[in-house]
Amino acid sequence: MLKKKIKKFSINVNKKIIDVLKKFDQNRNNFLIVINSKNQFEGVITISDVRRALVKGNNVNQKIKKFINLNPVVLKFKDYLLIKEKKERLNDINIDPFFIPVLNKDNIPVLIINNLENLNKPKKQKRSSKKRVLIIGGAGYIGSVLTGLLLKNGYIINVLDKFIYQSKFEFKNLFKNKKLNVIDGDTRDIKTVFNAVKNNDIVIHLGEMVGDPLCEKEPELTLETNYLASISIANICKTLEISKFVYISSCSVYGANKTNKLLDENSEINPVSSYAKLKIKCEEAILNNIGNFCKPSIIRLGTVFGDSPRRRYDLVVNLFSGLVANNKKIKIFGGEQWRPFIHVFDVSNFIKKIIENRTQNKKGKIYNLIGENIKISNLGKYLIKKYNANVIIEKHIDDKRNYKVTAKKAFKDFNFKPKYTVKRGIEEIILNTKKNKINNIFRDKYINISNLEKFR
Ligand SMILES: NC(=O)c1ccc[n+]([C@@H]2O[C@H](COP(=O)([O-])OP(=O)(O)OC[C@H]3O[C@@H](n4cnc5c(N)ncnc54)[C@H](O)[C@@H]3O)[C@@H](O)[C@H]2O)c1
Repeated sequence: MLKKKIKKFSINVNKKIIDVLKKFDQNRNNFLIVINSKNQFEGVITISDVRRALVKGNNVNQKIKKFINLNPVVLKFKDYLLIKEKKERLNDINIDPFFIPVLNKDNIPVLIINNLENLNKPKKQKRSSKKRVLIIGGAGYIGSVLTGLLLKNGYIINVLDKFIYQSKFEFKNLFKNKKLNVIDGDTRDIKTVFNAVKNNDIVIHLGEMVGDPLCEKEPELTLETNYLASISIANICKTLEISKFVYISSCSVYGANKTNKLLDENSEINPVSSYAKLKIKCEEAILNNIGNFCKPSIIRLGTVFGDSPRRRYDLVVNLFSGLVANNKKIKIFGGEQWRPFIHVFDVSNFIKKIIENRTQNKKGKIYNLIGENIKISNLGKYLIKKYNANVIIEKHIDDKRNYKVTAKKAFKDFNFKPKYTVKRGIEEIILNTKKNKINNIFRDKYINISNLEKFR
Protein backbone atom coordinates (compact mmCIF):
# COMPACT_ATOMS: atom_id res chain seq x y z
CA MET A 1 0.00 0.00 0.00
CA LEU A 2 1.17 3.46 -0.82
CA LYS A 3 1.10 6.08 1.87
CA LYS A 4 -1.68 8.63 1.35
CA LYS A 5 0.69 11.50 0.67
CA ILE A 6 2.73 9.47 -1.80
CA LYS A 7 -0.44 8.37 -3.57
CA LYS A 8 -1.39 11.98 -4.06
CA PHE A 9 1.90 12.66 -5.84
CA SER A 10 2.01 9.44 -7.88
CA ILE A 11 0.60 8.32 -11.17
CA ASN A 12 0.41 4.95 -12.87
CA VAL A 13 2.75 4.39 -15.79
CA ASN A 14 -0.19 3.51 -18.06
CA LYS A 15 -1.91 6.86 -17.65
CA LYS A 16 -2.08 9.62 -20.26
CA ILE A 17 -0.58 13.09 -20.43
CA ILE A 18 -4.00 14.60 -19.72
CA ASP A 19 -4.15 12.66 -16.42
CA VAL A 20 -0.77 14.07 -15.46
CA LEU A 21 -1.92 17.61 -16.19
CA LYS A 22 -5.07 17.09 -14.13
CA LYS A 23 -3.01 15.85 -11.20
CA PHE A 24 -0.57 18.77 -11.45
CA ASP A 25 -3.58 21.01 -11.26
CA GLN A 26 -5.16 19.21 -8.29
CA ASN A 27 -1.89 19.15 -6.37
CA ARG A 28 -0.84 22.65 -7.47
CA ASN A 29 2.50 21.06 -8.21
CA ASN A 30 4.59 20.18 -11.24
CA PHE A 31 6.07 16.85 -10.25
CA LEU A 32 4.76 13.28 -10.05
CA ILE A 33 6.29 9.94 -9.21
CA VAL A 34 5.47 7.28 -11.81
CA ILE A 35 4.66 3.82 -10.42
CA ASN A 36 3.62 0.45 -11.82
CA SER A 37 0.67 -1.69 -10.78
CA LYS A 38 2.72 -3.09 -7.86
CA ASN A 39 3.34 0.47 -6.63
CA GLN A 40 6.98 0.15 -7.57
CA PHE A 41 8.95 3.14 -8.72
CA GLU A 42 9.33 3.57 -12.49
CA GLY A 43 10.51 7.16 -12.80
CA VAL A 44 9.24 10.71 -12.47
CA ILE A 45 7.43 13.12 -14.74
CA THR A 46 7.59 16.89 -14.48
CA ILE A 47 5.92 19.79 -16.25
CA SER A 48 9.08 20.17 -18.37
CA ASP A 49 8.75 16.57 -19.60
CA VAL A 50 5.13 17.23 -20.55
CA ARG A 51 6.00 20.52 -22.22
CA ARG A 52 8.73 18.87 -24.27
CA ALA A 53 6.35 16.09 -25.33
CA LEU A 54 3.70 18.56 -26.46
CA VAL A 55 6.18 20.79 -28.26
CA LYS A 56 7.29 17.73 -30.24
CA GLY A 57 3.73 17.36 -31.53
CA ASN A 58 2.38 14.73 -29.13
CA ASN A 59 -1.14 15.18 -27.85
CA VAL A 60 -2.58 15.00 -24.35
CA ASN A 61 -4.20 11.61 -24.95
CA GLN A 62 -0.90 9.86 -25.40
CA LYS A 63 0.41 7.49 -22.73
CA ILE A 64 3.12 8.94 -20.51
CA LYS A 65 5.39 5.90 -20.73
CA LYS A 66 7.55 7.42 -23.49
CA PHE A 67 8.02 10.73 -21.72
CA ILE A 68 8.93 9.84 -18.17
CA ASN A 69 12.38 10.39 -16.73
CA LEU A 70 13.66 6.88 -15.95
CA ASN A 71 16.83 7.99 -14.24
CA PRO A 72 15.98 10.76 -11.80
CA VAL A 73 17.83 11.29 -8.53
CA VAL A 74 16.35 8.99 -5.87
CA LEU A 75 17.43 7.98 -2.40
CA LYS A 76 17.25 4.57 -0.84
CA PHE A 77 15.61 4.73 2.55
CA LYS A 78 18.76 3.57 4.36
CA ASP A 79 20.80 6.33 2.70
CA TYR A 80 18.18 8.83 3.66
CA LEU A 81 18.44 7.73 7.29
CA LEU A 82 22.22 7.91 7.13
CA ILE A 83 22.13 11.46 5.83
CA LYS A 84 19.66 12.43 8.49
CA GLU A 85 21.78 10.84 11.21
CA LYS A 86 24.96 12.52 10.06
CA LYS A 87 23.01 15.76 10.06
CA GLU A 88 24.08 16.44 6.52
CA ARG A 89 21.95 18.62 4.42
CA LEU A 90 20.78 17.44 1.05
CA ASN A 91 21.97 20.71 -0.37
CA ASP A 92 25.49 19.79 0.73
CA ILE A 93 25.55 16.55 -1.19
CA ASN A 94 25.13 18.32 -4.45
CA ILE A 95 21.96 17.09 -6.04
CA ASP A 96 19.88 19.27 -8.21
CA PRO A 97 16.19 18.44 -8.48
CA PHE A 98 13.65 20.03 -6.17
CA PHE A 99 11.83 16.81 -5.28
CA ILE A 100 13.52 13.53 -4.50
CA PRO A 101 11.67 10.26 -4.03
CA VAL A 102 12.90 8.00 -1.22
CA LEU A 103 12.44 4.27 -1.97
CA ASN A 104 12.24 1.29 0.37
CA LYS A 105 14.02 -2.00 -0.28
CA ASP A 106 11.14 -3.17 -2.51
CA ASN A 107 11.54 -0.10 -4.70
CA ILE A 108 8.30 1.43 -3.39
CA PRO A 109 8.28 5.19 -2.75
CA VAL A 110 7.83 5.97 0.93
CA LEU A 111 8.76 9.63 1.13
CA ILE A 112 9.30 12.64 -1.05
CA ILE A 113 11.78 15.20 0.12
CA ASN A 114 12.29 18.68 -1.09
CA ASN A 115 15.98 19.29 -1.37
CA LEU A 116 15.47 23.01 -0.97
CA GLU A 117 14.45 22.36 2.60
CA ASN A 118 17.18 21.32 4.95
CA LEU A 119 16.79 17.86 6.33
CA ASN A 120 17.94 19.07 9.71
CA LYS A 121 16.30 22.27 10.79
CA PRO A 122 19.13 23.48 13.12
CA LYS A 123 21.59 23.52 10.22
CA LYS A 124 19.31 25.78 8.20
CA GLN A 125 21.29 28.48 6.46
CA LYS A 126 21.32 31.66 8.43
CA ARG A 127 19.32 34.29 6.69
CA SER A 128 18.17 37.63 7.98
CA SER A 129 14.67 37.42 9.46
CA LYS A 130 13.80 40.46 7.38
CA LYS A 131 12.47 39.62 3.97
CA ARG A 132 14.13 40.31 0.64
CA VAL A 133 11.97 42.43 -1.59
CA LEU A 134 12.48 43.12 -5.27
CA ILE A 135 10.89 46.38 -6.40
CA ILE A 136 10.69 46.53 -10.18
CA GLY A 137 10.41 50.19 -11.17
CA GLY A 138 11.68 51.10 -7.72
CA ALA A 139 13.35 54.28 -8.99
CA GLY A 140 10.03 55.71 -10.17
CA TYR A 141 7.60 58.13 -8.51
CA ILE A 142 5.92 55.54 -6.25
CA GLY A 143 8.93 53.20 -6.17
CA SER A 144 11.28 55.82 -4.69
CA VAL A 145 8.93 56.44 -1.76
CA LEU A 146 8.29 52.72 -1.27
CA THR A 147 12.01 51.90 -1.36
CA GLY A 148 12.67 54.48 1.39
CA LEU A 149 9.80 53.17 3.54
CA LEU A 150 10.80 49.51 3.28
CA LEU A 151 14.50 50.27 3.89
CA LYS A 152 13.52 52.21 7.01
CA ASN A 153 11.67 49.13 8.17
CA GLY A 154 14.71 46.89 7.83
CA TYR A 155 13.88 45.12 4.57
CA ILE A 156 16.62 44.09 2.18
CA ILE A 157 15.70 45.80 -1.05
CA ASN A 158 16.67 44.99 -4.61
CA VAL A 159 15.57 47.45 -7.24
CA LEU A 160 15.38 46.60 -10.93
CA ASP A 161 14.88 49.71 -13.03
CA LYS A 162 15.76 51.13 -16.42
CA PHE A 163 16.50 54.48 -14.75
CA ILE A 164 14.50 56.53 -17.20
CA TYR A 165 13.88 59.49 -14.90
CA GLN A 166 16.82 59.56 -12.51
CA SER A 167 20.27 58.00 -12.77
CA LYS A 168 21.28 54.93 -10.82
CA PHE A 169 23.77 57.12 -8.94
CA GLU A 170 21.16 59.73 -7.98
CA PHE A 171 18.82 56.99 -6.82
CA LYS A 172 21.41 55.17 -4.69
CA ASN A 173 22.47 58.46 -3.17
CA LEU A 174 18.96 59.13 -1.92
CA PHE A 175 19.26 56.33 0.61
CA LYS A 176 22.97 55.53 1.13
CA ASN A 177 21.92 52.19 2.58
CA LYS A 178 23.86 48.94 2.39
CA LYS A 179 20.62 47.00 2.33
CA LEU A 180 19.82 48.48 -1.06
CA ASN A 181 21.05 46.70 -4.16
CA VAL A 182 20.38 48.22 -7.54
CA ILE A 183 20.13 46.52 -10.93
CA ASP A 184 20.12 48.67 -14.04
CA GLY A 185 18.10 46.63 -16.53
CA ASP A 186 15.07 46.28 -18.73
CA THR A 187 12.07 44.13 -17.79
CA ARG A 188 11.84 43.01 -21.42
CA ASP A 189 15.03 41.02 -20.94
CA ILE A 190 14.00 37.66 -19.48
CA LYS A 191 17.47 36.80 -18.19
CA THR A 192 17.78 40.10 -16.33
CA VAL A 193 14.38 39.56 -14.73
CA PHE A 194 15.10 35.95 -13.81
CA ASN A 195 18.36 36.90 -12.09
CA ALA A 196 16.73 39.83 -10.34
CA VAL A 197 13.77 37.79 -9.07
CA LYS A 198 15.62 34.76 -7.72
CA ASN A 199 16.62 34.95 -4.05
CA ASN A 200 13.78 37.31 -3.17
CA ASP A 201 10.79 36.51 -0.99
CA ILE A 202 8.53 39.18 -2.41
CA VAL A 203 8.27 40.95 -5.76
CA ILE A 204 6.48 44.27 -6.32
CA HIS A 205 6.03 45.30 -9.94
CA LEU A 206 5.80 49.03 -10.67
CA GLY A 207 8.07 49.18 -13.72
CA GLU A 208 5.97 50.09 -16.74
CA MET A 209 5.43 52.91 -19.20
CA VAL A 210 3.07 55.02 -17.14
CA GLY A 211 0.25 57.28 -18.26
CA ASP A 212 -2.07 57.54 -21.26
CA PRO A 213 -0.11 60.13 -23.29
CA LEU A 214 3.14 58.14 -23.14
CA CYS A 215 1.48 54.84 -24.02
CA GLU A 216 -0.61 56.22 -26.89
CA LYS A 217 2.55 57.46 -28.61
CA GLU A 218 4.26 54.04 -28.82
CA PRO A 219 1.70 51.20 -28.82
CA GLU A 220 4.18 48.45 -29.67
CA LEU A 221 6.71 49.46 -27.07
CA THR A 222 3.89 49.75 -24.54
CA LEU A 223 2.64 46.26 -25.40
CA GLU A 224 6.14 44.84 -24.91
CA THR A 225 6.74 46.64 -21.62
CA ASN A 226 3.34 46.82 -20.00
CA TYR A 227 1.92 43.48 -21.07
CA LEU A 228 4.47 40.99 -22.38
CA ALA A 229 7.20 41.88 -19.87
CA SER A 230 4.70 42.10 -17.00
CA ILE A 231 3.20 38.66 -17.57
CA SER A 232 6.66 37.23 -18.00
CA ILE A 233 7.63 38.71 -14.61
CA ALA A 234 4.54 37.08 -13.07
CA ASN A 235 5.46 33.75 -14.69
CA ILE A 236 9.00 33.92 -13.39
CA CYS A 237 7.68 34.65 -9.89
CA LYS A 238 5.42 31.63 -10.18
CA THR A 239 8.21 29.38 -11.43
CA LEU A 240 10.58 30.51 -8.69
CA GLU A 241 7.86 30.14 -6.07
CA ILE A 242 8.06 33.72 -4.89
CA SER A 243 5.76 33.92 -1.89
CA LYS A 244 4.13 37.25 -2.71
CA PHE A 245 3.71 39.17 -5.93
CA VAL A 246 2.17 42.63 -5.97
CA TYR A 247 1.07 44.11 -9.28
CA ILE A 248 0.06 47.74 -9.55
CA SER A 249 -2.95 48.33 -11.76
CA SER A 250 -5.06 51.45 -12.08
CA CYS A 251 -8.58 52.71 -11.43
CA SER A 252 -8.46 53.98 -15.00
CA VAL A 253 -9.76 50.50 -15.90
CA TYR A 254 -13.20 51.87 -14.93
CA GLY A 255 -12.72 54.49 -17.65
CA ALA A 256 -15.73 56.17 -19.19
CA ASN A 257 -18.25 55.19 -16.60
CA LYS A 258 -21.83 56.31 -17.07
CA THR A 259 -23.17 55.60 -13.58
CA ASN A 260 -22.75 57.98 -10.72
CA LYS A 261 -22.35 55.08 -8.32
CA LEU A 262 -19.24 54.21 -6.35
CA LEU A 263 -17.39 51.50 -8.27
CA ASP A 264 -16.00 48.48 -6.49
CA GLU A 265 -13.77 45.68 -7.72
CA ASN A 266 -16.76 43.86 -9.26
CA SER A 267 -18.14 46.85 -11.12
CA GLU A 268 -18.15 47.01 -14.88
CA ILE A 269 -14.87 48.10 -16.42
CA ASN A 270 -14.75 50.48 -19.31
CA PRO A 271 -11.16 51.36 -20.20
CA VAL A 272 -10.72 54.06 -22.81
CA SER A 273 -6.94 54.17 -23.22
CA SER A 274 -4.52 51.46 -24.30
CA TYR A 275 -2.70 51.99 -20.97
CA ALA A 276 -5.88 50.98 -19.09
CA LYS A 277 -6.74 48.18 -21.53
CA LEU A 278 -3.34 46.58 -20.97
CA LYS A 279 -3.78 46.86 -17.21
CA ILE A 280 -6.91 44.69 -17.56
CA LYS A 281 -5.10 42.17 -19.73
CA CYS A 282 -2.29 41.93 -17.17
CA GLU A 283 -4.73 41.52 -14.28
CA GLU A 284 -6.47 38.67 -16.10
CA ALA A 285 -3.25 36.95 -17.12
CA ILE A 286 -1.83 37.18 -13.60
CA LEU A 287 -4.96 35.90 -11.87
CA ASN A 288 -5.38 33.04 -14.33
CA ASN A 289 -1.86 31.84 -13.82
CA ILE A 290 -1.45 31.52 -10.08
CA GLY A 291 1.10 29.05 -8.83
CA ASN A 292 1.12 27.12 -5.63
CA PHE A 293 3.23 29.61 -3.76
CA CYS A 294 2.82 32.91 -5.49
CA LYS A 295 -0.22 34.79 -4.28
CA PRO A 296 -0.70 37.89 -6.35
CA SER A 297 -2.29 41.02 -4.99
CA ILE A 298 -3.39 43.50 -7.60
CA ILE A 299 -3.89 47.10 -6.55
CA ARG A 300 -6.00 49.42 -8.71
CA LEU A 301 -4.68 52.82 -7.74
CA GLY A 302 -6.52 56.09 -8.03
CA THR A 303 -4.49 58.97 -9.44
CA VAL A 304 -1.57 59.40 -7.11
CA PHE A 305 -0.46 62.75 -5.69
CA GLY A 306 2.15 64.01 -3.24
CA ASP A 307 5.88 64.53 -3.23
CA SER A 308 8.48 61.90 -4.04
CA PRO A 309 12.25 61.97 -4.62
CA ARG A 310 11.26 61.25 -8.27
CA ARG A 311 8.84 64.11 -8.80
CA ARG A 312 5.98 63.91 -11.30
CA TYR A 313 4.18 67.08 -12.37
CA ASP A 314 2.12 65.27 -15.00
CA LEU A 315 -0.41 64.02 -12.46
CA VAL A 316 -3.38 66.32 -12.01
CA VAL A 317 -3.05 67.33 -8.33
CA ASN A 318 0.73 67.70 -8.61
CA LEU A 319 0.38 69.64 -11.86
CA PHE A 320 -2.17 72.11 -10.47
CA SER A 321 -0.14 72.55 -7.28
CA GLY A 322 3.09 73.10 -9.24
CA LEU A 323 1.35 75.72 -11.38
CA VAL A 324 -0.04 77.49 -8.30
CA ALA A 325 3.44 77.49 -6.72
CA ASN A 326 4.73 79.27 -9.82
CA ASN A 327 1.76 81.65 -10.18
CA LYS A 328 0.85 80.09 -13.51
CA LYS A 329 -2.59 79.78 -15.12
CA ILE A 330 -4.53 76.51 -14.74
CA LYS A 331 -6.87 75.44 -17.55
CA ILE A 332 -9.55 72.86 -16.82
CA PHE A 333 -11.50 71.26 -19.66
CA GLY A 334 -15.00 70.28 -18.63
CA GLY A 335 -14.12 69.47 -15.07
CA GLU A 336 -17.31 67.58 -14.25
CA GLN A 337 -15.40 64.27 -14.37
CA TRP A 338 -14.95 62.46 -11.06
CA ARG A 339 -11.52 61.09 -10.18
CA PRO A 340 -10.29 59.03 -7.25
CA PHE A 341 -7.05 60.18 -5.58
CA ILE A 342 -4.51 58.63 -3.22
CA HIS A 343 -1.32 60.00 -1.67
CA VAL A 344 1.98 58.36 -2.63
CA PHE A 345 2.81 57.66 1.05
CA ASP A 346 -0.55 55.97 1.55
CA VAL A 347 0.17 53.80 -1.51
CA SER A 348 3.52 52.77 -0.04
CA ASN A 349 2.05 52.10 3.40
CA PHE A 350 -0.66 49.96 1.86
CA ILE A 351 1.86 47.91 -0.11
CA LYS A 352 3.79 47.41 3.14
CA LYS A 353 0.58 46.18 4.79
CA ILE A 354 0.06 43.70 1.95
CA ILE A 355 3.53 42.25 2.13
CA GLU A 356 3.32 41.95 5.91
CA ASN A 357 -0.10 40.34 5.91
CA ARG A 358 0.04 36.74 7.05
CA THR A 359 -3.36 35.52 5.97
CA GLN A 360 -3.43 33.33 2.92
CA ASN A 361 -4.51 34.83 -0.36
CA LYS A 362 -4.65 31.64 -2.36
CA LYS A 363 -6.63 32.86 -5.33
CA GLY A 364 -5.07 36.28 -5.76
CA LYS A 365 -7.07 39.41 -5.11
CA ILE A 366 -7.81 42.79 -6.63
CA TYR A 367 -8.07 45.88 -4.43
CA ASN A 368 -9.09 49.41 -5.31
CA LEU A 369 -6.97 51.89 -3.41
CA ILE A 370 -8.10 55.48 -3.12
CA GLY A 371 -8.38 58.15 -0.45
CA GLU A 372 -11.12 60.39 -1.84
CA ASN A 373 -13.10 61.06 -5.02
CA ILE A 374 -13.12 64.64 -6.26
CA LYS A 375 -14.52 66.40 -9.32
CA ILE A 376 -11.73 68.09 -11.28
CA SER A 377 -13.70 71.37 -11.33
CA ASN A 378 -13.94 71.26 -7.54
CA LEU A 379 -10.17 70.96 -7.37
CA GLY A 380 -9.99 74.18 -9.39
CA LYS A 381 -12.56 75.89 -7.19
CA TYR A 382 -10.64 74.93 -4.09
CA LEU A 383 -7.40 76.35 -5.52
CA ILE A 384 -9.14 79.64 -6.33
CA LYS A 385 -10.60 79.89 -2.85
CA LYS A 386 -7.56 78.85 -0.84
CA TYR A 387 -4.67 80.13 -2.98
CA ASN A 388 -6.34 82.75 -5.12
CA ALA A 389 -5.18 80.69 -8.11
CA ASN A 390 -5.72 81.76 -11.70
CA VAL A 391 -8.05 78.95 -12.86
CA ILE A 392 -10.00 78.89 -16.11
CA ILE A 393 -12.70 76.26 -16.52
CA GLU A 394 -13.59 75.64 -20.18
CA LYS A 395 -16.77 73.82 -21.21
CA HIS A 396 -15.10 71.69 -23.89
CA ILE A 397 -14.30 68.19 -22.54
CA ASP A 398 -11.02 66.58 -23.58
CA ASP A 399 -11.08 63.59 -21.32
CA LYS A 400 -13.84 60.96 -21.36
CA ARG A 401 -12.71 59.29 -18.15
CA ASN A 402 -15.16 59.61 -15.29
CA TYR A 403 -15.22 57.31 -12.29
CA LYS A 404 -15.89 57.37 -8.58
CA VAL A 405 -14.40 54.47 -6.72
CA THR A 406 -14.67 52.80 -3.33
CA ALA A 407 -11.73 51.13 -1.56
CA LYS A 408 -13.85 49.58 1.20
CA LYS A 409 -12.46 46.10 0.55
CA ALA A 410 -8.83 47.23 0.97
CA PHE A 411 -9.65 49.17 4.14
CA LYS A 412 -11.53 46.22 5.64
CA ASP A 413 -9.14 43.40 4.69
CA PHE A 414 -6.05 45.27 5.84
CA ASN A 415 -7.49 47.51 8.53
CA PHE A 416 -6.10 50.38 6.52
CA LYS A 417 -7.00 54.06 6.46
CA PRO A 418 -5.29 56.62 4.20
CA LYS A 419 -3.64 59.40 6.18
CA TYR A 420 -3.26 62.15 3.61
CA THR A 421 -6.03 64.27 2.12
CA VAL A 422 -5.77 65.93 -1.28
CA LYS A 423 -5.79 69.32 0.46
CA ARG A 424 -2.75 68.32 2.48
CA GLY A 425 -1.04 67.00 -0.66
CA ILE A 426 -1.62 70.30 -2.46
CA GLU A 427 -0.08 72.21 0.45
CA GLU A 428 2.91 69.87 0.50
CA ILE A 429 3.58 70.13 -3.24
CA ILE A 430 3.22 73.92 -3.31
CA LEU A 431 5.59 74.22 -0.36
CA ASN A 432 8.19 71.83 -1.76
CA THR A 433 8.03 73.27 -5.26
CA LYS A 434 8.79 76.70 -3.83
CA LYS A 435 11.38 75.44 -1.35
CA ASN A 436 13.28 73.56 -4.06
CA LYS A 437 12.95 76.49 -6.45
CA ILE A 438 11.38 74.36 -9.16
CA ASN A 439 10.28 77.09 -11.51
CA ASN A 440 9.98 74.88 -14.56
CA ILE A 441 7.68 72.03 -13.66
CA PHE A 442 7.66 70.91 -17.30
CA ARG A 443 11.30 69.83 -17.35
CA ASP A 444 11.68 66.43 -19.03
CA LYS A 445 12.45 64.61 -15.82
CA TYR A 446 9.09 65.57 -14.29
CA ILE A 447 6.95 64.63 -17.28
CA ASN A 448 6.72 61.01 -18.39
CA ILE A 449 5.86 61.64 -22.04
CA SER A 450 8.98 63.75 -22.56
CA ASN A 451 11.11 60.63 -22.01
CA LEU A 452 9.67 58.44 -24.74
CA GLU A 453 13.01 57.99 -26.53
CA LYS A 454 14.65 56.44 -23.45
CA PHE A 455 12.25 53.48 -23.38
CA ARG A 456 13.44 52.04 -26.68
N1 LIG B 1 1.20 57.44 -10.46
C1 LIG B 1 -0.08 57.17 -10.61
O1 LIG B 1 -0.96 58.05 -10.51
C2 LIG B 1 -0.53 55.76 -10.87
C3 LIG B 1 -1.88 55.48 -10.86
C4 LIG B 1 -2.30 54.18 -11.12
C5 LIG B 1 -1.38 53.18 -11.33
N2 LIG B 1 -0.05 53.48 -11.33
C6 LIG B 1 0.90 52.40 -11.61
O2 LIG B 1 1.90 52.40 -10.61
C7 LIG B 1 3.13 51.96 -11.18
C8 LIG B 1 4.24 52.99 -10.89
O3 LIG B 1 3.85 54.27 -11.36
P1 LIG B 1 4.75 55.56 -11.11
O4 LIG B 1 3.82 56.71 -11.01
O5 LIG B 1 5.70 55.33 -10.01
O6 LIG B 1 5.49 55.65 -12.51
P2 LIG B 1 6.98 56.09 -12.92
O7 LIG B 1 6.93 56.34 -14.38
O8 LIG B 1 7.45 57.21 -12.05
O9 LIG B 1 7.85 54.83 -12.58
C9 LIG B 1 8.04 53.74 -13.43
C10 LIG B 1 9.45 53.23 -13.21
O10 LIG B 1 9.59 52.08 -14.02
C11 LIG B 1 10.84 52.14 -14.71
N3 LIG B 1 10.68 51.39 -15.96
C12 LIG B 1 9.87 51.68 -17.01
N4 LIG B 1 10.03 50.78 -17.99
C13 LIG B 1 10.94 49.88 -17.55
C14 LIG B 1 11.52 48.73 -18.12
N5 LIG B 1 11.20 48.29 -19.34
N6 LIG B 1 12.44 48.04 -17.39
C15 LIG B 1 12.79 48.46 -16.15
N7 LIG B 1 12.25 49.55 -15.56
C16 LIG B 1 11.35 50.26 -16.26
C17 LIG B 1 11.09 53.62 -14.94
O11 LIG B 1 12.48 53.89 -15.11
C18 LIG B 1 10.53 54.23 -13.65
O12 LIG B 1 11.53 54.34 -12.69
C19 LIG B 1 2.86 51.75 -12.66
O13 LIG B 1 2.55 50.41 -12.91
C20 LIG B 1 1.63 52.59 -12.91
O14 LIG B 1 0.89 52.15 -14.01
C21 LIG B 1 0.41 54.75 -11.10
